[in-house]
Amino acid sequence: MKQTALITGASKRIGKVIAEFLAEMGWNVIVHFNSSEKPAKQLAETLSLKFPTQKFGFVKANLSNINEVIELVPKVVSEFGEFELLVNNASVFNPGYLKETSLKLFNTPFDVNLKAPFFLIRDFANHCKQGNIINIVDTRMTSNQSNFAVYSLSKKGLWELTKMAALELAPEIRVNAIAPGVTLPPNDKDENYLLNLAQSIPMKKPGGVEPIIKSINYILENNHLTGQLLFADGGENLGSNV
Ligand SMILES: NC(=O)c1ccc[n+]([C@@H]2O[C@H](COP(=O)([O-])OP(=O)(O)OC[C@H]3O[C@@H](n4cnc5c(N)ncnc54)[C@H](OP(=O)(O)O)[C@@H]3O)[C@@H](O)[C@H]2O)c1
Repeated sequence: MKQTALITGASKRIGKVIAEFLAEMGWNVIVHFNSSEKPAKQLAETLSLKFPTQKFGFVKANLSNINEVIELVPKVVSEFGEFELLVNNASVFNPGYLKETSLKLFNTPFDVNLKAPFFLIRDFANHCKQGNIINIVDTRMTSNQSNFAVYSLSKKGLWELTKMAALELAPEIRVNAIAPGVTLPPNDKDENYLLNLAQSIPMKKPGGVEPIIKSINYILENNHLTGQLLFADGGENLGSNV
């Protein structure tokens, strides 16, 4: 039987690669987007052509708006039926030290990166009742570096939520997290920026998306795994040895 996944922020970059991977594995995929309507539709269309026996759809929600968050799972269920996998991938990655953080700079990453996953997890549990949740966190959360203070705190919170949800929702729903490291450059930076960054991590090169995909596969294949964090970060979480 084919299963269905909802991936947040799936129109581009890492979310898109996750969507393509799940499609390859036989999943139906619902591509969530906020501002990237065209790429989301294009992705769903391309996947439909490539995998004609599977279903692909797209759904819009602004995850910084709590009303749109709490409508999302019911909307997906009424349009596509119950689904078996929720990937909380959408995220806001804004720089800012503590001392320069305005209320708005604080609220948006917390709303998108933590509050939205909290209510999507709640609604997935209540509506779909079984399956898997995968939360995409960030290896940055292992340090107390504050140049992305709110982003890092929101990801620390999402990891804590992963464990709490895993305990409450077992055995019907498994909840795990993946912490990528140096993966893709921000939109305004190039590959050299990433290569330079990677010089400070143990594996000395960017991981690309493959470690994330392999981690997703491992989580889905391992029926006894819940409340766990897979670092897809080339050892970055270990810190520096110099
Ligand atoms: N890139 C990296 O190297 C890296 C490293 C460590 C961890 N990660 C984590 O991996 C995940 C994916 O990373 P990425 O770089 O691919 O992410 P990204 O491009 O920064 O963001 C992914 C998507 O999040 C969606 N999003 C942002 N604000 C939203 C809102 N208000 N409502 C709904 N959706 C919203 C956007 O959708 P729309 O375009 O439709 O607006 C965007 O396409 C994130 O959780 C990130 O924290 C990434």
